[in-house]
Amino acid sequence: MEDLFKLRSASGIPYVYEQDSRSVGPRGPLLLEDYILHEKMAHFNRERILERVVHAKGSAAFGTFTVTKDITRYTRAKLFNQLGKQTKIILRMSTIAGEKGSADSERDPRGFAVKFYTEDGNWDLVGNNTPVFFIKDPKKFSDFIHSQKRDPYHNLRSATRIWDFFSFNPESLHQVLILMSNRGTPYGLRHMHGYGSHAFSMINAKNERVYVKFHFRTQQGIKNFSHDEALQMRSADPDFSQRDLFEAIESGNFPKWTLFIQVMTTDQCSKLAFNPFDITKTWSQKEFPLIEVGVLELNKNPSNYFAQVEQLAFAPAHVIDGISYSPDKVLQGRILSYPDAQRYRLGVNYEQIPVNQCLFAVHNYQRDGLMTVTNNGDGSANYYPNSFDQLFIEHEYKELPIKLGNAIADWYDRNSEGENDHYSQPGVLFREVLDDKERGDLCLNIIKSMQGITGEKSLEIIHRQLYHFCQVDQTLAQIIAEGLGVSPPSYQSSPCVKNQRSIHQYRLPI
Ligand code: HEM
Repeated sequence: MEDLFKLRSASGIPYVYEQDSRSVGPRGPLLLEDYILHEKMAHFNRERILERVVHAKGSAAFGTFTVTKDITRYTRAKLFNQLGKQTKIILRMSTIAGEKGSADSERDPRGFAVKFYTEDGNWDLVGNNTPVFFIKDPKKFSDFIHSQKRDPYHNLRSATRIWDFFSFNPESLHQVLILMSNRGTPYGLRHMHGYGSHAFSMINAKNERVYVKFHFRTQQGIKNFSHDEALQMRSADPDFSQRDLFEAIESGNFPKWTLFIQVMTTDQCSKLAFNPFDITKTWSQKEFPLIEVGVLELNKNPSNYFAQVEQLAFAPAHVIDGISYSPDKVLQGRILSYPDAQRYRLGVNYEQIPVNQCLFAVHNYQRDGLMTVTNNGDGSANYYPNSFDQLFIEHEYKELPIKLGNAIADWYDRNSEGENDHYSQPGVLFREVLDDKERGDLCLNIIKSMQGITGEKSLEIIHRQLYHFCQVDQTLAQIIAEGLGVSPPSYQSSPCVKNQRSIHQYRLPI
């Protein structure tokens, strides 16, 4: 009989007694020597691994990326070098704050992380379904996440803490307005856009650099839940997004996104009125129009969730030749954070897990460590340089130098003059991008969320946040003030609108 059908222990010993443990007589105690019983119980006790510290609940599928337009004038990345070229990908979409068992329809941005398995190694574009983010310095990330997750005292999520953080960090406003719109509760995962969010570099064959932003636009059309529909779906089917994506792919209804880039030359960068590497800002699509690149299609469900999704590891550090980083400070922080998190979550050899492996065998001088499951370099040299192996450096991959001028290293205030306009773009979003219905829903969603602010600091937090809404748009602030039953704000003429250097200025008198 084929080995495939034989029931064996992990070490290959036949499992003859699968159902019953060895006992002293039919009604007596068990014998310690029933090794298979130990193996089953011990393995079960170790089934759970650490969940991701953020983005713990997610769904993923394999698919292909196909080039439809030529962008070789911007990048020499090989996956884009030919029309019609296909690259294998895996895309994982997730909520951010909830735990692994939390409901899919929570109000939250959604992660949108793509791994491209290219001939030059794996490229991970680890973005969200929003073009901006809450903070613009990585030092604030753990504070931000702590405020969104469970309160250490009562272990409940708390609107008070969530809005307390937002109100002290007005750079979050742009993302907060998107989060509070119905885009914060997308209908599953197929009906939302994805964004690289940061600025990245593209480098072409002539070694010329441009900066780019990536946009994946859903071909399924945008579809969102209203506040009440999302609330209802959380109890009716907490796993709605996973079910919806899985069943669509299983039935051959493959979801697709069109990839576009926005391109900014280094010259244009220096002439902009705002910092193009600030992830709380978008680039105007009028000035920097979307350029089509290709189509991403999901067409294969993972064959095992734990092996291929739970053990999946993305890292913004993973860029390939022709694509590189930008000076975006949040991106710079993320370059360190992800591999560090994965060494802790999955172990130091997490890149050897099949779903994380690149298309070809890698050779370097890293060896050993927990869970080494390759041949570990066999007997080859484990140091460099050496007189024995044939490995060589591929100098053609050398990265273009970046001129950093005579800059002085310091802890610069991220909200200093010229970096502190937190209000203009959210104002454009509120007045020009959203339609009447979306504006109404946004206000209602904010009111419902802020009604959860409780305790002795509640009025202080509400007024601090209303102050920021007022700078975005007076009507927005008034509607929310009325909805919350507090006096409408009149901060419009505040002298600190354009020059908010210190959070103490947000401690407003009530
Ligand atoms: C997951 C850190 C900002 C998108 C994670 C993980 C960490 C982390 C530690 C878990 C990684 C793992 O265990 O595999 C940070 C830090 C940030 C930051 C320190 C800012 C300083 C962002 C931003 C975006 C983003 C700006 C999107 C634009 C994601 C996504 C995942 C993730 C999509 C889940 C990846 C997956 O599906 O496995 N982040 N993050 N993060 N982050 Fe961030």
